[in-house]
Amino acid sequence: MILAGGSGSRLLPLTRVTNKHLLPVYDRPMIYYPIEQLAGAGIDRIMIVTGGNHAGEFLRLLGNGSAFGLRHLDYAYQEGVGGIADALGLTEWFAGGEPIAVMLGDNIFEFSVAPIVRRFLDSPAGARIVLTEVDNPGSYGIAVMEDGQLVRVVEKPKDPPSRLAVTGLYLYDAGVFDLLKGLTPSARGELEITDVNNLYLKKGLLRYDTMPGYWADCGESIRMLQRAAELVAERGANKPMPAERKL
Ligand code: G1P
Repeated sequence: MILAGGSGSRLLPLTRVTNKHLLPVYDRPMIYYPIEQLAGAGIDRIMIVTGGNHAGEFLRLLGNGSAFGLRHLDYAYQEGVGGIADALGLTEWFAGGEPIAVMLGDNIFEFSVAPIVRRFLDSPAGARIVLTEVDNPGSYGIAVMEDGQLVRVVEKPKDPPSRLAVTGLYLYDAGVFDLLKGLTPSARGELEITDVNNLYLKKGLLRYDTMPGYWADCGESIRMLQRAAELVAERGANKPMPAERKL
């Protein structure tokens, strides 16, 4: 599933009359990058979860997904801004008891996540997240490492325990939908994906990969949106991982 909801408040006024994920990033609308990323990982059924006033534009832009080589492109509508974990709950029927990849529609990776998806599918129990080093750890979910082990994820820490950010690609087994039912809203009034990941961690069922190359969360700020466009123009996106840049 690709999450393309939210209010885009950090990108105002660019998002006043459109959905953040429809904004251009270099030569494509932002939502193209995660679709191409998942399609490149062999995922051919995608559900876009969107919301707000511009939901119909996704259908106009993406149609049935055949331009991306997809077999099916489904759509769901999130009422309000309930958070990533709330949006994920809307895909339970779509997932139909199978594992699910969740990707935030404003995330762009330099390299393909196909090797990570393959690793997860080799033993699709529990959850898998993707970490990468950032310069502004206060803006993301951040990994707390102890003796080389991931022990916790903290959401947007004031005093960041590391620079390892949790990117917006999450792989879950079908058990995730039961975990979602026990969540309560955070201080910002959302069901947090970080809480889901910490629940998996407590059960010893959360694994992670560290992703090389750049990672851009285009929704973080207008500066980041502009930087993402520069990075895509200079270095491309979703490229096959070169052999020397191992995960
Ligand atoms: C969300 C997650 C955060 C993660 C980030 C990645 O933040 O809550 O843990 O690091 O996406 O893009 P949000 O964009 O909702 O502030």
